[in-house]
Amino acid sequence: MAKNEVSLAHSDDAELERARAVVQRVLERQKRRPVAQALSSTTEQHEEGAGSLERQARAARGALRQDRVASAELEEVSEVEYRQVRLERVVLVGIYAHSQRDAQNSLNELDALARTAGSAVVGHMLQRRDMPDTATYLGSGKAKELARLVRSTGADTVIVDTELAPSQRRALEDVVQVKVVDRTALILDIFAQHAQSREGKAQVELAQLEYLLPRLRGWGESMSRQSGGRVAGGEGIGSRGPGETKIELDRRRIRSRMARLRRQIKNMRPTRQTRRHHRRMGRIPSVAIAGYTNAGKSTLLNRLTGAEVMVEDALFATLDPTVRMAQTPDGREYTLVDTVGFVRNLPTQLVEAFRSTLEEVGEADVIVHVVDAAHPEPFAQIRAVNEVLETIDGAAHIPQIIALNKADLAPAADLAILRSRLPRAVAVSARTGAGIEELAELIAQTLPRPDVHVDVVVPYEHGDLVNSFHETGQIEQEEYLETGTRLVGRVNGSLAHRLQEVDVANGQ
Ligand code: GTP
Repeated sequence: MAKNEVSLAHSDDAELERARAVVQRVLERQKRRPVAQALSSTTEQHEEGAGSLERQARAARGALRQDRVASAELEEVSEVEYRQVRLERVVLVGIYAHSQRDAQNSLNELDALARTAGSAVVGHMLQRRDMPDTATYLGSGKAKELARLVRSTGADTVIVDTELAPSQRRALEDVVQVKVVDRTALILDIFAQHAQSREGKAQVELAQLEYLLPRLRGWGESMSRQSGGRVAGGEGIGSRGPGETKIELDRRRIRSRMARLRRQIKNMRPTRQTRRHHRRMGRIPSVAIAGYTNAGKSTLLNRLTGAEVMVEDALFATLDPTVRMAQTPDGREYTLVDTVGFVRNLPTQLVEAFRSTLEEVGEADVIVHVVDAAHPEPFAQIRAVNEVLETIDGAAHIPQIIALNKADLAPAADLAILRSRLPRAVAVSARTGAGIEELAELIAQTLPRPDVHVDVVVPYEHGDLVNSFHETGQIEQEEYLETGTRLVGRVNGSLAHRLQEVDVANGQ
């Protein structure tokens, strides 16, 4: 027994050290090179002059996953190294009280998430239990079975399909003897890999610290336990005091870093709003592409615009809003905004990290809701997305078009059921291009149309207004007079007002 205590104390010691190292690294993160920069520099020689930043970032992420050598760059992106799961061999575990099918689907999603993070999945395990075991999450017999599965598959990590209490994680780790990670930590890890913009990175770092803080308390408690044991054993007298002070100090540093991040994020917000405001001033209508993660949003955006956006067979390929220009078949311009994929049971720490993309959805004129029609549970995914959309200010009243994507994979009967149950749904394949014209036509019909008829002469110094007319209006006649450009056609109310203010004929 005493022997056990000693070894427990020992492992706590190591864990505490690792926890401190993690805190140190997270806190020092802002001093380092930005992740994207660090990553792209590793691939520059292969990608010499090869196109867009996005392509480089994509290549860099691919390289990150494939290159299993622990490089300096890898170190730099491993803020939550203790919980990081990339490049691991993992076993996935879940429990269910009622529906085994739901649990299996959830585990399949966890599987895709783990692969997105860069792990190799070597085993699955599901247990039926009414309630998770308070000590080890799985029942003790099942936990031992898991330990055997871990040994036989050579796994080095277990990922649990829930958010574990810090004590459960530790207890399960004691049984299986490898690292145990929960779903939240996994998603945080993926987000840390994918955040691109300054705000996205700051939001993810904040979420990581929020996740870390209570777990630090867990480590702190274990240390007190351990010091007590040592004191009782006559060792390390006085170690408890300084140890706790250190934890308290770490905690305080984390809190002040979090406060700073919150301030920074708050200051970033006006920039985004200003940008959006400018777009709205120009009255270029906007379409937001929303949908469950991996539904094919980025691929569809590429199809609709011909743009190059990262597309990967991985969840969460998109974290930051991506805005592209597109045109209706009758020549009206609009913006297409790609948003981060939705996921069920989103960790609470991450809800704020979504805010930047979700706000864009609330400002859109039309929402294109992309659904993976080949997924076994499309209705569950649609519900999950709609539930989130309902919580976004203003989104509930925006007209929605459903793009039933991956029609090339989905059985015709499934597509027929989806079409019959969903109003305004179009079957498309972003991959083959099938149905895209029909979708583009439906978008054009749904976008607000310019409705004020004008006949104005715009002085040449107001070229910006002529541009806005071209971009957002429907021109019937255009001629160049001595005093300016005469434009006849339809525009929206606000542009009509601005045009009339400068109209030469009006001024006379
Ligand atoms: P997140 O960024 O994770 O939210 O993903 P996303 O919804 O933007 O999905 P993305 O466009 O990255 O596509 C995910 C995977 O689905 C990629 O492997 C695509 O090639 C594939 N995919 C997208 N559209 C289609 C399609 O119409 N047919 C088929 N067969 N595959 C598709």
